[in-house]
Amino acid sequence: MKGIEAGNNLLLGVTGGIAAYKSVELARLFRKAGVNVRVVMTEAATRFVGPMSFQAVTGQPVRVRLFDEEHEAAMGHIELARWADHLLIAPASADFLARMAHGLGDDLLSTLCLATAAPVTVAPAMNIHMWSHPATRANLSLLTERGVQVLGPASGEQACGDTGPGRMLEAAEIVSGLMYPRKTGLFSGKRVLVTAGPTREAVDPVRFISNRSSGKMGFALAEAFAGQGAEVLLVAGPVKLDTPAGVRRIDVQSARQMHEAVFDNLQGVDVFAACAAVADYRPVSPSDQKIKKNAERMELTLVRNPDILADVAALENGPFTLGFAAETRALADNAGTKLAEKGVDMIAANLVGENLGFDVEQNALLVLWPGGEATLPVQDKKSLARELIGILAEHYQ
Ligand code: CTP
Repeated sequence: MKGIEAGNNLLLGVTGGIAAYKSVELARLFRKAGVNVRVVMTEAATRFVGPMSFQAVTGQPVRVRLFDEEHEAAMGHIELARWADHLLIAPASADFLARMAHGLGDDLLSTLCLATAAPVTVAPAMNIHMWSHPATRANLSLLTERGVQVLGPASGEQACGDTGPGRMLEAAEIVSGLMYPRKTGLFSGKRVLVTAGPTREAVDPVRFISNRSSGKMGFALAEAFAGQGAEVLLVAGPVKLDTPAGVRRIDVQSARQMHEAVFDNLQGVDVFAACAAVADYRPVSPSDQKIKKNAERMELTLVRNPDILADVAALENGPFTLGFAAETRALADNAGTKLAEKGVDMIAANLVGENLGFDVEQNALLVLWPGGEATLPVQDKKSLARELIGILAEHYQ
């Protein structure tokens, strides 16, 4: 997470949503923390809260329109884009995220998004159905791939009466998310790459081979590392999960795509955590056309996929490697063999099967490293992830 500190210039973009009223408090808290704040609102935002409120707490004129001779004469929009050390859009509406994703520049705020070289963070706020709509999901993953940071949203009761994810984070949470991202924590200043979820190996244009991994453990791990100050990149297979706050995410489908995404982004990585349930095999030649059911029997020939974890572990001067072992029996023996054979620095092993491991909220882990082991009892995956990276921090130096 790229953050800001006292004395920095923060451009706060406010878009149209009921959460816009929270942004007045947000501007006030940033001012109180010693950050210089200038506010740009969209036309829609002015329907929810008046520019005067922001002017009162920031002591600066608030801008809304792109073609505004008076304001442009004082500080042109390109100058404003250069002035910013960070651009925060809070609340970021579904509509604004869509316009950002498509690179529109039809008002002042969207133009600033294109014109600024500063890091951009969005704090989305919208109705739960708008948040989970495939269009919003796609826009957000495009934005995070381009390096846009995402804070929130929170889950809970919404202004419209629905309950679920979509609420903007509280002002204080956004301030601490941006101002104290990497100052403290076990992985402060470290870069971590996490793989998560299953992969899909195409059989034909409509069929694939995959597995039951939900990605929950990998996402919990990415969140835990970010919470301990790391700069986290998450390479995720197809999953239905929101990107944790402050985490950059690249979505992939197949094992080979995951391998490529990992190796393209390995430069400077301190810890590589392979949590993905990568398909070990893929159909040797996926059909271009949908396969018809003409034959009584059919045979599918599979070939081995590259082993991402083993390839990273084999690098000279590579990162510290954490692997996972999903086993249906003889947990300690199988995990011990994997630790040695793949040459990884640490293995977190868990039993999988009926109601265990995959697609459930809780899990337990046996953690092994050369010369030691620890057992983490059954618990929520998020707290399991936090405990696991605590152990990792002790060993990775
Ligand atoms: N892994 C990987 N690339 C692969 C296969 C596995 O990076 N092509 C990683 C997983 O992310 C996990 C670890 O290797 O961290 C162990 O995966 P697992 O499926 O438990 O073991 P395998 O090595 O695949 O061995 P087996 O399936 O024979 O148990």
